[in-house]
Amino acid sequence: MQPILIVGNAVLDIVLGVDRYPQEDEEMRACSRQARLGGNAANTARVLAGLGYETRLLATLAPDAAASELRGLLIAAGVNTEYLVAATGGHTPVSYILLHAANGSRTIVHHRELAELRLADFQALPLAAYGWVHFEGRNVTAVQGMLAHLRESNFAGRISLELEKDRPQIEALMPYADLILFSRALAEARGYSDAPGLLAAMHELAPHADLTCTWGAAGAWALGHDNGLHHCPALMPATVVDTLGAGDVFNAGMIAAMTGGVDLASALTQATRLAGRKVGQQGLDGLRLNDPA
Ligand code: FRU
Repeated sequence: MQPILIVGNAVLDIVLGVDRYPQEDEEMRACSRQARLGGNAANTARVLAGLGYETRLLATLAPDAAASELRGLLIAAGVNTEYLVAATGGHTPVSYILLHAANGSRTIVHHRELAELRLADFQALPLAAYGWVHFEGRNVTAVQGMLAHLRESNFAGRISLELEKDRPQIEALMPYADLILFSRALAEARGYSDAPGLLAAMHELAPHADLTCTWGAAGAWALGHDNGLHHCPALMPATVVDTLGAGDVFNAGMIAAMTGGVDLASALTQATRLAGRKVGQQGLDGLRLNDPA
């Protein structure tokens, strides 16, 4: 198996478990507190590492103690950290997260004060070694440069792109990717009330790519470059305990399944089931691709 490179963010998640949702201006007690590895790219990387793939993360690390904690969490999760880029200033991005015990909802307040990755950080890497490169769709100008660099170097592997938040100019990233993973939040921000509507419109912009869109309890959809539409209902565990990072798990599932050579519809099923198993457990440890539903 060729190694996988994941490009994006590593975040420290401070997760407070609450047994009810607070009122504004209230003071209340959390029932638990955990410091977890977070950030879409880091989450996807650690799930892939857990699935047995040799996975490296390209992300910026701040010059602070929290960054050492993040590096330790990545190493403990089996992610190769040798490409992490040391920033000279800034702070580790932190998310303060309320995890509601009654329904597993996660409310995220995120703070970021750290330089983004630069094109030069990416160009310095021996990219031909990778079978798959996955990008978080942020920092658009630099990421577009990275994607163009990969294509210009005749990269033989596959390229995936997560578009979770609607950011200015993100369409510019789409033509470079083989697989584009959209979120419900992006679809709704663009005025779509369902996944097929978004996917049909995005297919016009990236006709050569396979596309997916997750839709929470309604499951996930995929639209192939051959224009074939697939749907997989959500696998709902008996109790939803923790939805934090479920989308990142879905993305890891798609990459793992497609690296393994299965078709788009089967990859969609495997990834949707993986995300379903995730919401039935705390955190991202111990997920397996082909566990029985
Ligand atoms: C979940 C997540 C968290 C992180 C936040 C960043 O998808 O990656 O781990 O704190 O989103 O926006």
